[in-house]
Amino acid sequence: MCGIVGYVGNPALDRDHSAIDVLMAGLRRLEYRGYDSAGVAVVAEDGVESRKKAGKLVNLSEELDANPLGASTIGIGHTRWATHGGPTDQNAHPHLADHDQLSVIHNGIIENFAVLKQELAADGVTFRSETDTEVAAALLGKIYRGEAEGDLTRAMQLTSQRLEGAFTLLAVHADDPNRVVASRRNSPLVVGLGENENFLGSDVAAFIDYTKNAIELEQDQVVTITADGVEITDFYGNPAQGKPYTVDWDASAAEKGGYDTFMEKEINEQPSAVADTLLGRTDAAGRLVLDELRISEDELRGVNKIIVLAAGTSAYAGTVAKYAIEHWCRIPVEVELSHEFRYRDPIIDPNTLVVSISQSGETMDTLMAVRYAREQGARTIAICNTNGSTIPRESDAVLYTHAGPEIAVASTKAFLAQITAAYLLGLYLAQLQRKLFTQQIRDILGALSEIPAKIQQVLETSDDVKELARNMKDTTSVLFLGRNIGYPVALEGALKLKELAYIHAEGFAAGELKHGPIALIDEGQPVFVVVPSPMDRHSLHAKVVSNIQEVRARGAKTVVVAEAGDEAVRDYAEQVFYVPETLPMLMPLLTTVPLQIFALELASAKGYDVDQPRNLAKSVTVE
Ligand code: F6R
Repeated sequence: MCGIVGYVGNPALDRDHSAIDVLMAGLRRLEYRGYDSAGVAVVAEDGVESRKKAGKLVNLSEELDANPLGASTIGIGHTRWATHGGPTDQNAHPHLADHDQLSVIHNGIIENFAVLKQELAADGVTFRSETDTEVAAALLGKIYRGEAEGDLTRAMQLTSQRLEGAFTLLAVHADDPNRVVASRRNSPLVVGLGENENFLGSDVAAFIDYTKNAIELEQDQVVTITADGVEITDFYGNPAQGKPYTVDWDASAAEKGGYDTFMEKEINEQPSAVADTLLGRTDAAGRLVLDELRISEDELRGVNKIIVLAAGTSAYAGTVAKYAIEHWCRIPVEVELSHEFRYRDPIIDPNTLVVSISQSGETMDTLMAVRYAREQGARTIAICNTNGSTIPRESDAVLYTHAGPEIAVASTKAFLAQITAAYLLGLYLAQLQRKLFTQQIRDILGALSEIPAKIQQVLETSDDVKELARNMKDTTSVLFLGRNIGYPVALEGALKLKELAYIHAEGFAAGELKHGPIALIDEGQPVFVVVPSPMDRHSLHAKVVSNIQEVRARGAKTVVVAEAGDEAVRDYAEQVFYVPETLPMLMPLLTTVPLQIFALELASAKGYDVDQPRNLAKSVTVE
């Protein structure tokens, strides 16, 4: 949510990195974080120069072609997901202060902006935008001229002390053309270390074209970068440390690699997302080894309740985990939307394990819920796809998914990787608590290891799904039904269609239909049904077939996702998409895939931007 990039190079060196090129390359890679507007500022010979434009980055590019900025090796850039103030040129970042010689960009929400704005207005400051960011810029400008006596780093420290809420702020000043100063509280910021050049970014994608060496920052830190140095302090000027690390993927992972869209690429990367998440997590004897968990085996043996915290697609991965973990471990699992969790006085004790699931590791709702859970004494494990992000850092332990960078805003490959990691965690607890026999765990792991090839099979036989999607491009409403572990798959199928194709879509537990939603069914209503395996131990297959008949009797057109060999469902569906056989508990890793492809293809047929759907942003860093 909002992408931020900062750059300082050495003007004396003859290199081809101009600030504007680095900033625009970074913004291109960060655009998935928000695309309501974009802007850049550099410090050039005549002072701070900036350009900003509402709409996608391409509008800013055109503006820069028409009105280029002066040559420079220092600057900041921003791509916005609007919070305070609509997506206009005026509200776009950067915002200027101190006679337009100070330029500031921001990610987050400054909660005390109204009080500060009043105070600054009383001093005679006039504001040109509706944003909280301009208030922060004005305050920084005032402190820079006043208490900080022209020291930008000091001014940032003092300003940060006065701000409440969540913020990453970056600033450059014409009087000090060698440094970019930044500050962070509850919003992401990483430092990139180059040779005679340094970078700042909301995430490493901002500078992955130039360096893989990065530094994680802690909460409430101020960082100053120059071409040859990085200095970190707390908000009070005390020296502080960051944690250096090396990024384990390269720029090609963040390219489309021959696909038309990132979404298509990421759906096709799912076999490796699952395989890589499984990799290296068993020993030669076939036992699960999750040493990285860093919570003692004794503590994990004592776990008697699990709470999964997540939002959106990640919460659906959590619901899949609930069915599997309760079945394998006989431990009660609650799945809670992270934004609801801490406002309902949840009951937590030292034997409660809180598992957060977050692709980005930065979702503010989930971060706040994890912090609250820790305050209440719970042990916390993060299932996360982003190395070094905040949620894993603030958890007792982390189980990384290895899906690689997910650039399309709507999640696909991370979802399957999250489910895979949650299965591993469930099996590990079953192993420690002796809830399953060793051979049972081996069998499940064996079935899991076959999943990547089976996903590949689904991908290679998806022409019918695509054709159906194209034929349904004028549909205005689709319902999705599932039962048991197929229920979260139905919810995810509906969410993908809403997000990508802007179609009314709803997922239901199939058994719930008759308690109300069946009133929605009339002649021709498309209904997708995720059918359980005929081997399901609760004989749910027959019940779902009855549910299909109930909707068909009322005019619905049914499309069924079923297991290969399930010939019985053919009689009840207009169309059936088969996925290869696997254990009933593992089916979501396969049945999700046709639904993702359906949403992608239908949205593409409508001409929509599937990588950057309207109103959305990846990594939601505001509450
Ligand atoms: C939907 C989607 C979102 C995210 C949610 C949580 O396609 O991507 O619903 O799943 O915003 O994000 P993370 O997993 O980054 O915490």
